[in-house]
Amino acid sequence: MKVAGVGVLGAGTMGTGIAQVAALGGYETRLYDPDPEAAEGAAIRLGEALAKGLSHARWTELEAEEALDRVETTTVLEDLAGCGLLIEAAPESVELKRDLFRAVAALCAPDAVLATNTSSLRVADIAAGVPNPERLVGMHFFNPPALMKLVEVVATELSSEAALAATAEVAERMGRTPIRARDSPGFVANRLARPFALESLRMLGDGVAEAERIDRIVRLGGGFRMGPFELIDLIGLDVNLEIARSFFAQGGEPERWRPSPIQERLVAEGKLGRKSGEGYHAYGEGIEREIDPELGILAPTLDPEKLDRIDPAATVVLSRLFAQIANETAFALEEDVASPDDMDTAMQLGLNWPLGPLSLAEKIGAGPAVALLEELESAEGGAYAQAPLLRRAAEQGAGLREVER
Ligand SMILES: NC(=O)c1ccc[n+]([C@@H]2O[C@H](COP(=O)([O-])OP(=O)(O)OC[C@H]3O[C@@H](n4cnc5c(N)ncnc54)[C@H](O)[C@@H]3O)[C@@H](O)[C@H]2O)c1
Repeated sequence: MKVAGVGVLGAGTMGTGIAQVAALGGYETRLYDPDPEAAEGAAIRLGEALAKGLSHARWTELEAEEALDRVETTTVLEDLAGCGLLIEAAPESVELKRDLFRAVAALCAPDAVLATNTSSLRVADIAAGVPNPERLVGMHFFNPPALMKLVEVVATELSSEAALAATAEVAERMGRTPIRARDSPGFVANRLARPFALESLRMLGDGVAEAERIDRIVRLGGGFRMGPFELIDLIGLDVNLEIARSFFAQGGEPERWRPSPIQERLVAEGKLGRKSGEGYHAYGEGIEREIDPELGILAPTLDPEKLDRIDPAATVVLSRLFAQIANETAFALEEDVASPDDMDTAMQLGLNWPLGPLSLAEKIGAGPAVALLEELESAEGGAYAQAPLLRRAAEQGAGLREVER
């Protein structure tokens, strides 16, 4: 199935970036938003983004001009009738998205592919009641879409191979790297990132170290660009808490996904991170948070001798973090959320991790990870319950890539 034109529904942060990469990929692109101001603003931002890329030598003047010529912004849904792929980037509401796809389905060819960029909703819920639901898939971009290379192509139980393949092909022509994900809570990257925030918060609660030290250890010893608390401050504690609540509910309330009581308290106190001037760190005027010059010098390592040079708590912090990453990865593998290679790709391209989760799991090893999780489980409870697949890997002396199911 070859897609000719691309229609983008919703001209906000994501839709505008998606239209940009579609046009640069050579697609005639229609960008729709019912709000005239949003549509107009998107056209201006698109022009600016293409001009900015010129100065960074990302594309030539001719490519920018041609891309701009290929995009048309509109407030009239009927203008999208001829598009072969419709990517929805409208507000995060099942009803709104479902209504939008039903309206689009009535306009477009019966085999036009319908793709939603939802981050947190079940794709199957959006597809319910849409005619020919086999052509509806998830197409999950990362912010900002023009810079982040990952696209998660999400398959519901009904999605056809033709629709999934066409979506992946368009993603490639957009210069992105598609991976295949099952329609499950948070798909791949956001799900496998759960322990990065939640285990760090549990360590903070346990008094392993304060936020500043944990951030520094994770940067220097783990090789992550930002520590977990700096990252949550940037995202917003309220936004991050909402994400945590959504996972907890959708996953059937597993203890390891329980939202952090520390974060609940800070949000209730109005400490929302950078945007409110305080979260896990303070951001008042004159308080500059500088990038650590030693960023990632050792990373990622669990060598206690090297880690001791960073901080006496470094081995504990990183062992707990890597063990929970290994555990979440094992749960996700068991649920067939994605292939091991796609999981590694997702975390490196979607969230800039220094290594994929399977490689981080190898750093600790399944045996030591299970031993540590058992110890924590007996002291702290269900948040450390081990994935059966991780236990099997430990018994077999294998890694998560080789373990026999
Ligand atoms: N922002 C992110 O980091 C991010 C990352 C990945 C996925 N997403 C997902 O992308 C979607 C859009 O997020 P965003 O951050 O771009 O939101 P946004 O608020 O910036 O943009 C949404 C746009 O949709 C428009 N809109 C409202 N009703 C509409 C309708 N009926 N039809 C079409 N457009 C309509 C709004 O006018 C607005 O311009 C959400 O589903 C979100 O979960 C967001």
